[in-house]
Amino acid sequence: MRRPLVMGNWKMNGRRREAQALIAAVAAEAATFPGVDVAVCPPYVYLGVAADGLSRCPAIAWGAQDVSAYGDGAYTGEISAGMARDMGCEFAIIGHSERRTLFGESDGVVAQKFARALAAGVTPVLCVGETAAERDGGHTREVVLRQIGAVFASCGTGAFDRAVIAYEPVWAIGTGRAASPDEAQAVHREIRNAVAQRNPTAAVGLRILYGGSVKAQNARELFARDDIDGGLIGGASLVAADFVGICRAACPDLA
Ligand code: 13P
Repeated sequence: MRRPLVMGNWKMNGRRREAQALIAAVAAEAATFPGVDVAVCPPYVYLGVAADGLSRCPAIAWGAQDVSAYGDGAYTGEISAGMARDMGCEFAIIGHSERRTLFGESDGVVAQKFARALAAGVTPVLCVGETAAERDGGHTREVVLRQIGAVFASCGTGAFDRAVIAYEPVWAIGTGRAASPDEAQAVHREIRNAVAQRNPTAAVGLRILYGGSVKAQNARELFARDDIDGGLIGGASLVAADFVGICRAACPDLA
């Protein structure tokens, strides 16, 4: 059985004091979501806050929202995957749609970042997903499989042996309009099948998260689907009670 995983992507929000309070509040509730892997991804500058606040809370991990496509060196402003690992990051979000659209990250750059994370011992969480226009044009499968194919092409058949995929339809991110459980499950199944074609063993254990307007109210129905192994949570991860509610919704015995 795949262990559910719920990750909070704080994006570029909050200040140190809020980061401390949020982490403390979620850590205090860790006993209420047994059997669920939980991670928070604060902005880089607050990774130390996560490391301090969670050092005695083994139930909650932390991760980076991105890593550089380069290794250490003369790359002003960049943060390497090795640095993220050094700050205790277990995960790194790679290829979030905001990185792809606002910062021009191509499939190739995303694949390089994915490889850097793997090499540094950080589990990459590859974000994939289509825009509204791509969905309306019937291109969802093609877009998502292209994004995954770029990572296979660059990292080889074992790319997803130790990785996570997050399906985040762009039209659902921050809009309040989540994909329905049926819509999400259909794409998750396509993703698992695509990975299985290259690496059947990895596909069985691969955790595929859904992201896009997940709330405590819709999480349980989404997570109950066969191929939805948890969530990547944006806005609702900034409010402790909401995030904890989503983590509880992923508890295997409650699903
Ligand atoms: P929202 O949960 O705010 O829709 O954001 C989803 C997301 O982008 C997580 O990475």
